Amino acid sequence: MKRVSLTQYLVEEQRHNNSIPAELRLLIEVVARACKTISHAVGKGALGEVLGSADTENIQGEVQKKLDIISNEILLEANEWGGHLAAMASEEMESIHPIPNRYPMGEYMLLFDPLDGSSNIDVNVSIGTIFSVLKAPDGMGTPTEAHFMQPGSSQVAAGYAVYGPQTMLVLTTGNGVNCFTLDREMGSWVLTQRNMTIPETTKEFAINMSNQRHWHEPVQRYVGEMLQGVTGPREKDFNMRWIASMVADVHRILNRGGIFMYPADKRDTSMPGKLRLMYEANPMAMIVEQAGGAATDGRQRILDIPPQKLHQRVPVFLGSKSEVERVTSYHAE
Ligand code: AHG
Ligand code: MN
Ligand code: MN
Ligand code: MN
Repeated sequence: MKRVSLTQYLVEEQRHNNSIPAELRLLIEVVARACKTISHAVGKGALGEVLGSADTENIQGEVQKKLDIISNEILLEANEWGGHLAAMASEEMESIHPIPNRYPMGEYMLLFDPLDGSSNIDVNVSIGTIFSVLKAPDGMGTPTEAHFMQPGSSQVAAGYAVYGPQTMLVLTTGNGVNCFTLDREMGSWVLTQRNMTIPETTKEFAINMSNQRHWHEPVQRYVGEMLQGVTGPREKDFNMRWIASMVADVHRILNRGGIFMYPADKRDTSMPGKLRLMYEANPMAMIVEQAGGAATDGRQRILDIPPQKLHQRVPVFLGSKSEVERVTSYHAE
């Protein structure tokens, strides 16, 4: 395959259907460069003072890892001065981060989970960064949290980097999903997979089984049927994977199909599941739908959910369309 860099891909996309205005192209390239810096920090591990806990807690009530904070800082510093953003929001920051007055304000708003899969950092398992891009409302003035409360269908771009055996960047701007592999020697992102497509059916599911006793009935039934294998109602054997890094589980599903689930459960109705709508579920839902899959909260399309709060959580069922439709239908019965 002729080597196509991220920059060349974005310029060609802009030329073909102007789906990527110059300012959005600049933003994507800045985020991609920040992900390269995060990948470099991640790769140092114990040699770079990046492992372990920071002994601080974030708004989610999670103890922050050093890399949660380091990657958050890298994304803030990379994006503040470019003039393409009006504000940013992050899993690791309680409130939104308006662009400082000393810099020009741009027309986009960037949301991110700077380090996804934090529980895997200290055990050398794949982790990642997830990002979502919204347009700043016309005539917005000073950005507030309310300006971020746009449904996932309003996203103009979404993507993730996965820091694994290879460092990869998966990106959509609404015209399909493309994957770039980091060429560490050249320091450039190279297009390695065009138009990724999720198989409609699958024999593989991803869920944290240790929560099984807490699941509501539709999920008990759906997973229970799969566990009965070829002699059960699904009449086929299923495999299970759970990496506990959403980016890694989603990347596997984009490549070979599957269904990823993080359901709400009986423990805490005020917190429906663990995953956050604005910077985990929405960007991943846009990517999955652009790859021909489906993404619901068990009842409705994730991209249709009207956000209420910046850090709100939603149940997530995403992946191969036929399986997401099945488990969603069980919730309707
Ligand atoms: P984060 O590290 O950004 O807080 O996200 C972790 C999420 C997600 O990546 C993963 O799918 C899920 O947490 C794993 O949850 P469990 O540890 O409960 O399995
Ligand atoms: Mn996460
Ligand atoms: Mn995170
Ligand atoms: Mn976290």
